[in-house]
Amino acid sequence: MEKKAVVLNVNNQDYELYINPKTLLAEAIRDHIGLTGTKRGCETVSCGACTVMINDMAVKSCSVLAVQCEGMKITTVEGLEKDGQLSAVQVGFLHEGSYQCGFCTSGMLMATSALLKENSKPTTDEIKESIEGNICRCTGYNSIVRAVEGVASGKYKEGAL
Ligand code: FES
Ligand code: FES
Repeated sequence: MEKKAVVLNVNNQDYELYINPKTLLAEAIRDHIGLTGTKRGCETVSCGACTVMINDMAVKSCSVLAVQCEGMKITTVEGLEKDGQLSAVQVGFLHEGSYQCGFCTSGMLMATSALLKENSKPTTDEIKESIEGNICRCTGYNSIVRAVEGVASGKYKEGAL
């Protein structure tokens, strides 16, 4: 298939790519842009490891084509830290030990970051709902929920470790 030029805005930076129109956003982010924090797991829209934010909403990046995302604001896990300051949810994950192998972690961070952008004081049920589409084989989920509860309660703030 003929390649196509596309400009993707990722973490507030424009990237000009020349790609097959069937390239998934997950593939474009990792293999063409080189931001490997986003993981490719199932590639069948089941595991959530590839979750990014598109226009501040959580989206599984294996579920969309890169060319469909032109003109949109894409945020990956690398974009959560600003000027050396971790986001509050990253701080929460570190304090609560919300990761073990880490494969699901960037997807979990993006799903919960999107929730917190929409709702800064989510309930425990809302937090659980926000990660329903993200599978973790290690943590048992409770430490992830605790981290986000800590952000909602003001216990964890950006920057502070
Ligand atoms: S790799 Fe996208 S949901 Fe699993
Ligand atoms: S920390 Fe291993 S899959 Fe979640």
